[in-house]
Amino acid sequence: MSKPGDESGPRDDYFLGLQAALTEAGIAAPTLVIDKARLDANIDTLMGHLPAGIAYRIVAKSLPSLDLIAHIRQRSGSNRLMTFNQPLLTALSKAMPDADQLLGKPLPVAAARTYFKSLDVADAPAAANVQWLIDTPERLRQYRELAAATGQTLRVNFELDVGLHRGGLEAGDTLKSMLETVRDAAEFSFAGFMGYEPHLAALPEALGWRERAKSGAWRRYSEALAQATEVLGADAVSKLVRNAAGSPTYRYYQDTDVANEVSAGSCLVKPTHFDTALLEPHLPASFIATPVIKSMAQTRLPGLEFAADGQRAWDPNTSRTVFIYGGNWLADPVDPPGLSYNKTFGRSSNQEMLTGGHNLVIAPDEFVFFRPHQSEAVFLQFGDIAVYEDGRITQRWPVFPASA
Ligand SMILES: Cc1ncc(COP(=O)(O)O)c(C=O)c1O
Repeated sequence: MSKPGDESGPRDDYFLGLQAALTEAGIAAPTLVIDKARLDANIDTLMGHLPAGIAYRIVAKSLPSLDLIAHIRQRSGSNRLMTFNQPLLTALSKAMPDADQLLGKPLPVAAARTYFKSLDVADAPAAANVQWLIDTPERLRQYRELAAATGQTLRVNFELDVGLHRGGLEAGDTLKSMLETVRDAAEFSFAGFMGYEPHLAALPEALGWRERAKSGAWRRYSEALAQATEVLGADAVSKLVRNAAGSPTYRYYQDTDVANEVSAGSCLVKPTHFDTALLEPHLPASFIATPVIKSMAQTRLPGLEFAADGQRAWDPNTSRTVFIYGGNWLADPVDPPGLSYNKTFGRSSNQEMLTGGHNLVIAPDEFVFFRPHQSEAVFLQFGDIAVYEDGRITQRWPVFPASA
């Protein structure tokens, strides 16, 4: 075990600028901040990577705010959303009735029924823009009953298992008979396939592991398409949505041989889980900012006061302490530099303790900044998003309800 060096030092000008903007806006509570210029750069990066013929679908759960999604729709020109639960499906149908919504997971049929009940007559056209994700013959049967009961033709999309093994269909007798059902049943129209493969990015590149898994995923997808061609005909298949990918894998799709659209969300705000080599061109665009409540020149741990000198001598990063407003988020402190959670004191959602080195200089009411690990769920913990643009907080974007 080598002795840790002092990681504290001067604050980053970028975060000092953000701090000034928050202070000027009168913000004094834990806040999720989005840097709009970086967000826009990420949208342009994503769109710039997509080859001709590959469309972009916006993953709503990773970008959980109507205003944020509206901005991304406008800048990317995408009219396609991926939605993951009924309350969001309803909210998006009402706010963006013209958007095409593909369910990112199969919803229990009771949730789909609640969706239809939640709509007003005026919202009916939005319901026709939903692609219901179906993974089993049983769910197809349930949705057929729902279609009959509501008098609606349901657009269905089949979930494929291309190697993630989170359920879904593979080429074979079951898929064939399900394709025949959607072809023949007046209650359905067939919209396409969805094959998600985030495991590819997690596999090691060594010994060709990742390449093998990638060609395996594309072979599985192609076999399903071949079966669809047998049942539905080439013309019908050429019009289908062929959805694939997520942030970590969208750059794998450099032609339209397998997919004709990719879905991605997180890479536009880039939480730390998306710090990968392929996503290098994307910039961290979301931060948690929270005021310091107390700043102490010396760390003192309850009942362990006698140990402080020894601990400081071994690890200088435990020398000083701040207590912040709130805490216990899925996030890593990034500024001031060298801050870390204190294992002995533990985590706190009320006043979290962070320790730092000898050069940690921060006063009460100044801000500590964190990068979230993920955007899903974490973005919902802070109320309205603060939009940082040209050195100021220019807008507040409400987030979806946490229960959704
Ligand atoms: C079906 C599906 N597609 C795509 C995504 C990608 O989302 P993100 O780009 O935010 O990782 C997800 C995320 O969970 C998903 O479940």
